[in-house]
Amino acid sequence: MRILLTGSKGQVGSALAQALAGLGELSALDRQGLDLLDVQSITNAIAKAKPDVIVNAAAYTAVDRAEQEEDAAFAVNSRAVDALARGAKSLDALLIHFSTDYVFDGEKPAPYMETDAPNPLSVYGRSKLAGERVIAASGCRHLIFRTSWVYGPAGRNFLHAILAAAKTKPELRVVNDQHGAPTSSAAIAGAVAQVLANLDLSRIASGLYHLSAAGETTWHGFATAILEAKGIKIPVRAIRSDEYPVAAQRPKNSRLDNAKAAATFGIALPDWREGLAGVMRAMY
Ligand SMILES: NC(=O)c1ccc[n+]([C@@H]2O[C@H](COP(=O)([O-])OP(=O)(O)OC[C@H]3O[C@@H](n4cnc5c(N)ncnc54)[C@H](OP(=O)(O)O)[C@@H]3O)[C@@H](O)[C@H]2O)c1
Repeated sequence: MRILLTGSKGQVGSALAQALAGLGELSALDRQGLDLLDVQSITNAIAKAKPDVIVNAAAYTAVDRAEQEEDAAFAVNSRAVDALARGAKSLDALLIHFSTDYVFDGEKPAPYMETDAPNPLSVYGRSKLAGERVIAASGCRHLIFRTSWVYGPAGRNFLHAILAAAKTKPELRVVNDQHGAPTSSAAIAGAVAQVLANLDLSRIASGLYHLSAAGETTWHGFATAILEAKGIKIPVRAIRSDEYPVAAQRPKNSRLDNAKAAATFGIALPDWREGLAGVMRAMY
């Protein structure tokens, strides 16, 4: 199996570069190897690699900056995805892509299912939804995994932000009215590798799947667990989202129902606390 991986230096991309290495002939490309802003180079890279599977881990993920950079967000999260999907279609390759809980408005009082109507609150969310739609419209074989609150040992993420803030501040203020599941990049990559290892490429149930860690918490709960795991004892004050103004509005409910992925592929990510323990072990 020939696999073309994009965004190989990102959180999920770097975890996938490790997890997919044993599954076949892996061509792992970072932004220097394949800049998704250059649509022609996407087409060329696919024509050259002739992959059976394209895994797109690259994305424009600067959620707040996207409010000012709509075109840049849509270029990577939708136009480039369209080129990847068309390339996959031309070779009858499988496209594996990632999307986000931010396609939802968070008003549902229960975990979101794949059949729930999206209604993004932010430019980033709209750009990711547009990416999902161009894939579906292309007619290529595809698996889109929507995940949430991604973190890992490398990259810019909430875990590192909390550990850095704890070094300089006497007290942390963290939002306690957004609910979701922090999902480790390694858990996502492990599940995707499991899907690919067991997949009959000729019989794929193309579609959208939710894939987040089991359990749920808030950013405040996650921050508290991070500090506990590291043995750092500073107060963490729970605040409302409106007390921490940011450019992009986030959904209050980011919880995803993962039953479809479990039923289809037999994959279920561990509880977010277990994921955090694993990432802490990898870091220290
Ligand atoms: N992070 C989250 O909390 C979260 C939550 C839900 C879903 N997701 C989704 O999960 C997937 C993986 O996210 P992640 O957390 O791994 O993101 P990430 O750490 O920000 O990695 C994204 C990667 O994409 C690369 N990239 C950006 N623009 C590019 C371009 N024009 N050409 C080539 N590469 C480019 C980045 O390279 P540079 O470093 O050079 O910019 C980076 O290596 C994305 O689809 C994201 O939307 C993420």
